[in-house]
Amino acid sequence: MANARLTCRAPSEKKRRAHQASSDVPVELERKTQMKVLIAFYSRSGHTEQLAREMASLYGADIDRIQDIGPPRTGLLGYMRCSWQAMRGSVATIRPTLHDPSAYELVIIGTPVWNWSLASPVRAYVQLHSGHFRRVAFFCTEGGSGDQRVFAQLESLCNQAPLEKFAVNARDLATGAHKAALQRFIDRINSASLRAA
Ligand SMILES: Cc1cc2nc3c(=O)[nH]c(=O)nc-3n(C[C@H](O)[C@H](O)[C@H](O)COP(=O)(O)O)c2cc1C
Repeated sequence: MANARLTCRAPSEKKRRAHQASSDVPVELERKTQMKVLIAFYSRSGHTEQLAREMASLYGADIDRIQDIGPPRTGLLGYMRCSWQAMRGSVATIRPTLHDPSAYELVIIGTPVWNWSLASPVRAYVQLHSGHFRRVAFFCTEGGSGDQRVFAQLESLCNQAPLEKFAVNARDLATGAHKAALQRFIDRINSASLRAA
């Protein structure tokens, strides 16, 4: 398992001094934000996966793809099954994931929006591990609406308020217009974890 940290690894003494001289945040305090982070996501058509991988690469976080067992979710029938399950609040059957979320200080959970709801494989993951998340943050990708309802569902299932939430429109993801907002999401998590330290 990779040693996932929210910010960069411990800097050399030279870099540490240079940084301390140029930053308002004392290095000792900043170290407390070096959380062990897991990004867990489900993606049917690749958008949420793209965002999860960009986030993981910016953080140096571990990543876990949630995979369900059952007929493929492709084509019209697959779409309708996703939609129906989301509408009913069904829990998909999922494969065991690689990482134990309770070993992480922060788990960032990502889902596509299906019918103004979270995806059924993500519902399964969260229900399975609820009570074992130390802290959580949420992100979703969508066609245009439903994110607030999805975040409320995730918060209720996790039984805790997230450090931060981040919704991205699939169009912005395609053009790269989300990148500045992604960086702000990361910065807000860093600030929130610093406050909580
Ligand atoms: C079954 C289904 C229902 C969807 N419902 C919504 C919706 O309610 N609101 C919305 O903005 N987008 C909706 N979408 C669009 C997806 O949220 C969007 O394309 C998302 O980025 C897909 O993520 P993925 O590529 O990781 O699977 C829906 C997509 C599917 C397949």
